[in-house]
Amino acid sequence: MLEKWLKESNYTVVFTGAGMSTESGLPDFRSSNNGLWRKKDPSQIASTKALNENVEEFIEFYKERVLGVKQYGPHKGHYILAKWEQDGLIKSIITQNVDGFHTEAGSKQVAQLHGTLQKFRCLNCNKEIDSEIFIKQKQYCECGGVLRPNVVLFGEMLPQDAFQMAYSEAEKADLFIVLGSSLSVTPANQFPIIAKQNGAKLVIVNMEPTELDMYADEVIHGRKIGELLEELDKKVSVEN
Ligand code: NAD
Ligand code: APR
Repeated sequence: MLEKWLKESNYTVVFTGAGMSTESGLPDFRSSNNGLWRKKDPSQIASTKALNENVEEFIEFYKERVLGVKQYGPHKGHYILAKWEQDGLIKSIITQNVDGFHTEAGSKQVAQLHGTLQKFRCLNCNKEIDSEIFIKQKQYCECGGVLRPNVVLFGEMLPQDAFQMAYSEAEKADLFIVLGSSLSVTPANQFPIIAKQNGAKLVIVNMEPTELDMYADEVIHGRKIGELLEELDKKVSVEN
């Protein structure tokens, strides 16, 4: 049904999680095989508590993630979504990912709910620097302050502009497609429900079951997102 709904819909919104970037080479968080949080306790690492009490491990964790983002890049699925936006097939992307791959692939309407690893800022003087500088120089600001990534940590509020854009897009959607998220984290996992409550069809594409499968009009498990998007692109593009 996804192909049919994609062709018929007037306002398709795509919602992505870490599963969108595993085919680029980045690990996700909760996959049963190699999710990041299967090995580490996120609240001890990716949290404001870790930033205050565990700063060396915090810096090491984000250094690894920045190196991963620099080493890899968007895959075919990211580029297909960018093309679909240009062709008017989808209107926007709401992403929980901080790798910046949707924007790098050319998508313009992207709500980055959890911020981005592209920028860091000093906790002391609030100076903002590019992630390349964070990697090259010692992970402290010239003023001696600790540098933190512009991502949303456990315990923090989401950026209001991204939150508002996501809310508005979910309300307008008549088709809401989730790609690669376990939908286990608030408040991001509220947006598929908001779309559904406003009359959208909800399709969840995820390798494993998610917490919102029972609300979906269609669930696709066990398929790799990149491959599925490639198959769909061949079918929907032949029409255009
Ligand atoms: P949580 O379970 O405490 O939920 C966040 C709470 O804040 C919810 O009650 C939510 O309603 C509220 N909230 C957040 N932003 C809001 C906004 N802009 N407007 C209105 N309400 C808002 O979440 P958590 O476990 O503390 O994690 C917080 C966020 O940090 C989550 O979205 C999580 O995914 C994110 N996170 C990001 C990374 C990363 O590397 N990017 C790592 C860990 C956590
Ligand atoms: N194709 C389809 N599904 C995939 C693929 C793939 N190639 N790779 C992984 N998946 C699925 C996994 O089965 C998993 O259920 O993607 C899902 C990713 O879920 P999570 O690892 O929980 O990632 P996500 O939902 O984005 O996490 C939300 O939690 O730690 C916080 O802020 C962090 O943004 C993150 C948030």
